[in-house]
Amino acid sequence: MKDAAPQPIHLADYRPPSYLVEEVRLTFRLQPKGTRVLSTIRFRANPEGLEDGNLHLDGEGVRLISCSIDGAPLTAFDYLLTAEGLTVPAARLPEGAFTWEAEVEIDPEENTALEGLYTSNGMFCTQCEAEGFRKITFYPDRPDVMARFTVRIESDLPVLLSNGNPVASGAGWAEWHDPWPKPAYLFALVAGELVAHSDRFTTMSGREVALNIWVRPGDEGKCAYAMDALKRSMRWDEEVYGREYDLDVFNIVAVDDFNMGAMENKGLNIFNSKFVLATPETATDRDYDFIEGIVAHEYFHNWTGNRITCRDWFQLCLKEGLTVFRDQQFSADMRSAPVKRIEEVLQLRARQFREDAGPLAHNVRPDSYVEINNFYTATVYEKGAEVIGMLHRLVGADGYRAALDAYFSRHDGQACTIEDWLAVFEDVTGRDLSQFKRWYTQAGTPRVSARWARTGGTLKMTLTQELPATPGQPLKEPAVIPVALGLLAPDGTELLPETLVVLDGREAELDFDIAGMAERAGVAMPERVIPSLLRGFSAPVILDAPLSRADRLVLLAHDPDPFNRWEAGRSLMRETLLAMLTDGAAPDAALFEALATLLTTDTLDPAYRALALALPSEDDIAQAAHDAGMVPDPTAIHGVRRALQTAMAEALRPVLAALHDAMDPGPVYSPDAEQAAKRSLRNAALMLLARVEGPERAQARYDAATNMTDEMAAFAALLEAGDTQVAARFHDRWKGDRLVMDKWFMVQIAHAEPEQAVAVAQRLTDHPLFDWKNPNRFRSVIGGLTAGNPAGFHDPTGAGYRFLADWLLKVDAKNPQTAARMSTAYETWRRYDADRQELIAGELDRIAAAEGLSRDLGEMVSRIRGS
Ligand code: PHE
Ligand code: ZN
Repeated sequence: MKDAAPQPIHLADYRPPSYLVEEVRLTFRLQPKGTRVLSTIRFRANPEGLEDGNLHLDGEGVRLISCSIDGAPLTAFDYLLTAEGLTVPAARLPEGAFTWEAEVEIDPEENTALEGLYTSNGMFCTQCEAEGFRKITFYPDRPDVMARFTVRIESDLPVLLSNGNPVASGAGWAEWHDPWPKPAYLFALVAGELVAHSDRFTTMSGREVALNIWVRPGDEGKCAYAMDALKRSMRWDEEVYGREYDLDVFNIVAVDDFNMGAMENKGLNIFNSKFVLATPETATDRDYDFIEGIVAHEYFHNWTGNRITCRDWFQLCLKEGLTVFRDQQFSADMRSAPVKRIEEVLQLRARQFREDAGPLAHNVRPDSYVEINNFYTATVYEKGAEVIGMLHRLVGADGYRAALDAYFSRHDGQACTIEDWLAVFEDVTGRDLSQFKRWYTQAGTPRVSARWARTGGTLKMTLTQELPATPGQPLKEPAVIPVALGLLAPDGTELLPETLVVLDGREAELDFDIAGMAERAGVAMPERVIPSLLRGFSAPVILDAPLSRADRLVLLAHDPDPFNRWEAGRSLMRETLLAMLTDGAAPDAALFEALATLLTTDTLDPAYRALALALPSEDDIAQAAHDAGMVPDPTAIHGVRRALQTAMAEALRPVLAALHDAMDPGPVYSPDAEQAAKRSLRNAALMLLARVEGPERAQARYDAATNMTDEMAAFAALLEAGDTQVAARFHDRWKGDRLVMDKWFMVQIAHAEPEQAVAVAQRLTDHPLFDWKNPNRFRSVIGGLTAGNPAGFHDPTGAGYRFLADWLLKVDAKNPQTAARMSTAYETWRRYDADRQELIAGELDRIAAAEGLSRDLGEMVSRIRGS
């Protein structure tokens, strides 16, 4: 018999807690099995509490040894204990304040879900967001309960860490005190044989902060870049947001087994080691870029997340959308802003638009969930950041800064809602944001259509918006859509410099006085006008604008907005690919000529040129085909994409060869944006040239590579060229390095011929280094197929679907979060033909029927399957 489906939790049911916590003292007697946790918690009745007055403490998988209230032991008749927690009825509780004490036992070594207290390669560490603290001890595990924590750790391990400042330590113990009230999800503890890469930081008011990055012995030489990123983040947050760090120490710990990227625990960030450890030999430029962005992200949470936290988990975007927006601003300041913007939009479309277009579409602020871990999504994070970007554009940089200052001073120390956040903007800027708020409460990607016509000296433009129905939301109200636009003449002359139009109804009519503009620009009346719409991707929408190929070529050559210039090339490529798919049309030479011009414009950032050269992904093409009313065929898509690459490589061969040689950044590696840009263009050229030249160039590059960026690029090019030796060579060199071997697993599957991909993945799961309990390794192999090789995953036999389902079931029993995240590979299933849909539905049903399925994976497959 299957258990009844778990019930959803609704935002509308939020009630303030009956009890608040004044102080928490915890003692950990660490053992791999049978760790004892002693807690002393000072409770006081919440004057605003609306609940029944019972004391409810969450607790899962913790064995209660004893408990007491105000020193009087409780017996089993004094409380109700279930698999979810413990309730002491109001009648058994003293009036006002009281002290709860408990001793519990937990088994960190058995904890394969990596939530709560667990072990990873002999070290103890914790992960409490969102609801992991309840696996450590009994506690009101909800973010609107904030308290000061004092922690004592008893263990023979040499390094014992927790949140806040160190208080005292001796042989076998250490004590920590965190002066800042925090919710339990920010609690952290680490114990292990660790070594530190240390540094110092002096804050804007002159306070000294000790900085440490803790890693396993042998890895201390791989922390310099993360440390540098941390110091730059600290300075940047002072300069741009006026935010200063607020403890004497800031610790980062790298762990090998971690479900996510990293976690912002107060004063003790815990990172997936892949986002900390880097040397030129082992990490790619992309890895460095991620390390910088994630170190910044977690650090920025200290104010947006920790000092001001979320009232409940429905408000997750309050901290995540804002912190992503902040880390994007930071990265744009550190590197090339246009390149960063293009990369953000690529990610947004690949992950968030895909989510919004399918069965998992949900609001930036969801209304309900079964398992909160399933809502750490691209919608909450990336669309949440886009919403703040729109707000920034609407109120201007000064209004934004004033609103943020007010937010920090008004809400410091509080657990807040989206309503609180918007109220600050309304109060500071005087703007009514009630309609803007729909971005938080309506799912789906709006479609904006632009139509225009000339009458005499006037251009009349109509903008309309349409919001698609999404699961549970058939009807929508118009959103507030900022559309940044400009107008160009066919020779590239800018007629109208960038202007912001706000579309807040279903339709808006705009009149542009072209005659006047031409006169001001000192040019003759142009025979046609080319709109450049949605500059900088000013809103997360799908734009439908009937620009001719000729218009797009003008934008590709001349748009002063770098984003739209790239976008013009992108849409030409997409159109070309669709035409190749439908009628086998050959790509037209004008596109290649325009690309050649762009590639040889030396004033353009090489990273930008590399992006212009990149084709839409197979998944993008599938979505575009679906949007155009076709049923995408993954095999055909793979074929036309390759054909276009080959045609491009043939047409651009001399240009690419010249770039390949010119973009050599020299023998001394640096991960900075300038060098990384050169390598990205050089390696993009290498990949294309390998299509038409044979493997010699890639072979030479592989043999000469002195950094992982070049080594991986050459490795991939050789795999594509059918080389059968390179994987073994790479393996022999790197088998001792976990993070590098993740790449080895991934790249072989991603660059396998589609018909071979499932077999390659299968074979790699038999490799002795395939450790499916390690989330990074699992994602390398399974994600290498589902995301890295879509044509292989969608193999018409259904072998890819079956492979995924088998692994999801296996992993779900040990680590539900990781299984649930990976299940999103099925979310696009409704795009495909009836045979494939039937195969996928069969796998989803098989998973759903499995015995002992987790709440995480259960919710995902039922939402993906739909009704
Ligand atoms: N809060 C983390 C971040 O965004 C993400 C995370 C969520 C990590 C849940 C672990 C568990 O930085
Ligand atoms: Zn975050």
